[in-house]
Amino acid sequence: MYNSKIVGLGKFLPENIVTNQDLAKKIDTSEEWIVERTGIEERRHIVKGDGNTTASMGAEAAKIAIERAKISANEIDLILFATLSPDYYMPGSGVFVQNILNIPTCPAMDIRNACSGFVYAIATADQFIKTGMYKNILVIGSETQSGAIDMTTRGRDIAVIFGDGAGAAVVTKSESSGSGILSSHLYSEGEHVDELVMVAPNTNKWVTEIVSKNDPEDSSYYPYMNGKMVFKNAVSRFEEVINKGLDHNSLEPENISLLIPHQANLRISQFVQRKFKLRDDQVYNNIMRYGNTTAASIPIALTEAWEEGKVNKGDLIVLAAFGAGFSWGSTVIRWE
Ligand code: UT7
Repeated sequence: MYNSKIVGLGKFLPENIVTNQDLAKKIDTSEEWIVERTGIEERRHIVKGDGNTTASMGAEAAKIAIERAKISANEIDLILFATLSPDYYMPGSGVFVQNILNIPTCPAMDIRNACSGFVYAIATADQFIKTGMYKNILVIGSETQSGAIDMTTRGRDIAVIFGDGAGAAVVTKSESSGSGILSSHLYSEGEHVDELVMVAPNTNKWVTEIVSKNDPEDSSYYPYMNGKMVFKNAVSRFEEVINKGLDHNSLEPENISLLIPHQANLRISQFVQRKFKLRDDQVYNNIMRYGNTTAASIPIALTEAWEEGKVNKGDLIVLAAFGAGFSWGSTVIRWE
């Protein structure tokens, strides 16, 4: 069995900044409410016609990650694309990236685990490398939330949280043992499918039906979230799954150099920080600037932390995510 490590990171954020004040002009909300309940100050939204899509943003992030990995696009053996907002129903967004970056024939696979998507994708990459099947794997998390958000007061709980953006990592075979990706723990609990969900279009309610009815009361094609329930489950599952990763590697919370939680809500990250008695410099948060970018949040945060010199050789980096499904997971990395 081989080990794997992350050798290149990249991110892409659309230029258009949407502040809390911008949102308060459209919906009944306020700067105070958003900052106090979520920690978010601004987020990015693509603008119709600016050329950005989930795949194009993923490709931009991937280009940087590949360059920093010091490999060429020709050397990518597998593309894993985590998203809940793919460009099209079919095909998946991974093949769009392959086309944009001129990556020669190789498998491309989309991973649809919402906020946990990047952690699931990293675990998948790690397994393919462990078995020796592939050497260089491009892992992308990219989202365009803005197009599917109910930008009225009805959708305000969701509208203020989510943002657009992309992050990418190149995962490759490691020559050393005892470092790189040390473990992944993944979980799902399908009984909670209805608590965080975007129902339509679906196999019983196709686009034609939605369009023909044109019902202004129909919000089924917008995301729905039982915020309080998601919040409660998130804090307990984050704690549990981080402990799983630490225990598996006989590590303690004080050994963590940097925890990069999925940027769901600053209050969730702060709760987790307090639970593990971590210092501020042991937890990375950038939700203030980008909002919750679901599958993209961890690779954007990891890239930004790395760019700021906060991820170095020998560091213990812990990634943890929770989201729709419910599904959640953690990854423990000894950075090489
Ligand atoms: O990405 C992974 C999954 N997502 C998460 O982990 C998010 C988890 N949940 C949350 O972050 C929080 O539950 C929210 C930020 C979504 C909501 O915060 P909350 O403290 O749970 O508020 P709430 O939903 O209980 O609503 C409290 C009040 C309600 O008004 P009433 O009924 O007390 O009069 C809401 O209607 O706040 C109202 N409200 C708002 N007010 C101003 C809800 N959204 C807004 C808003 N602006 N944007």
